[in-house]
Amino acid sequence: MVGSNRIAQIGTYAMAAVRERTEQLRARGLTPVDFGMGDPSAPTPEFIRRACAEGIERHAASGYPPFAGSAPFRQAVVDWVEGRFGVAIDPETEIVSSVGSKESIFHLPEALIDPGDVVICPDPGYPPYGGGTIFAEGEPYYVPIQNRTDFLPDLDSIPDSIAERARIFWLTTPSSPSGRIASSEFLESWVQWCRDRDIVACSDEAYSEIYFDQPPPSALEQGKQGVLVFNSLSKRSAMTGYRVGWVAGDARIIALYRKLKANIDTGTPWFIQEAAIAAYSDESHVAEMRDGYRKRRDLFVSAFEAAGLPRSDPEASLYVWQRAPEGVTSTALAEALLDEKILAVTIPSAALVGDASRHGPDEQYVRLSMVATWEESERIAGAIAEHLRLD
Ligand SMILES: Cc1ncc(COP(=O)(O)O)c(C=O)c1O
Repeated sequence: MVGSNRIAQIGTYAMAAVRERTEQLRARGLTPVDFGMGDPSAPTPEFIRRACAEGIERHAASGYPPFAGSAPFRQAVVDWVEGRFGVAIDPETEIVSSVGSKESIFHLPEALIDPGDVVICPDPGYPPYGGGTIFAEGEPYYVPIQNRTDFLPDLDSIPDSIAERARIFWLTTPSSPSGRIASSEFLESWVQWCRDRDIVACSDEAYSEIYFDQPPPSALEQGKQGVLVFNSLSKRSAMTGYRVGWVAGDARIIALYRKLKANIDTGTPWFIQEAAIAAYSDESHVAEMRDGYRKRRDLFVSAFEAAGLPRSDPEASLYVWQRAPEGVTSTALAEALLDEKILAVTIPSAALVGDASRHGPDEQYVRLSMVATWEESERIAGAIAEHLRLD
């Protein structure tokens, strides 16, 4: 069976390759620790699980949920956004639920672009930006986010010929993989740049609550015209398996996405939405989780430094984006971390970039996801400090 042209254009999902590699090591009797996926190993807080179980009983006759999210779910998000960012959102017209952000990110281009239109994607970045574009028969344009661009897209580097054909511009803030937070000033200039060119400014804020110092601003603070913000409960409340998120912003664009969604899925299950409502009613579990990630960040940043690598300084997200020493490739660093004395599975930047030709040889990194237990993290950080050799 030969697949479609679209599926042929998509490479192996980077995370799938990491999983396969971990399995191969396990098959050899080794016990690697997986720092590849951004999937928290901590259990979803008990009060959220309980709300979910109660939701099952409340909706004993299950019934299809509304695909745009239940009224109480939308209200809970709207209240949270108002409290967190000081932005008022109309629950009827300016928000829609998603089956997790991945679903909405992948599908959005279907509602907004025509074949041949361009979608600007940060590079390296979350694979569904490019994947969703290709499936909608668009063209991804990968704009590098590098050390030398302060891990933000350099707006002046984007050719006019690309900007004229672009319909969507993805920004990830806080950034995966770099952990960089876009400032309000950057968001202002980015949103304005997009508005001037009639491009939809799509801000993926999946990591907005996993910060180590200052809470990141949201693109919603720049006004809703031409702006969409994507967020979910996955990272904030360790709910990756629940599959619940939302998109909020410009009512005209939300209406288009709602229309698309009505044709694709039938919404997030009732009881999952009830769990999400409970999650948004509490901030203490999020503060606790942040403390855990901050401790791990300090641990790994120091371990790499002790091993003689350049210091990285993530401001937010689940990741340490560790730069390789000069002359060492990202793959060589990832392989050195798989040494039998360390056995840490990470993702090399080579597996994450969309257009390798735009990246200099000095932009070599591995992404280490801080999701392992504290005991595993301490053990592996100790091994990195002691045994990581790059000769
Ligand atoms: C940058 C970024 N955006 C969005 C997501 C999607 O998260 P979810 O689909 O679980 O909401 C992820 C998940 O890892 C991510 O890394």
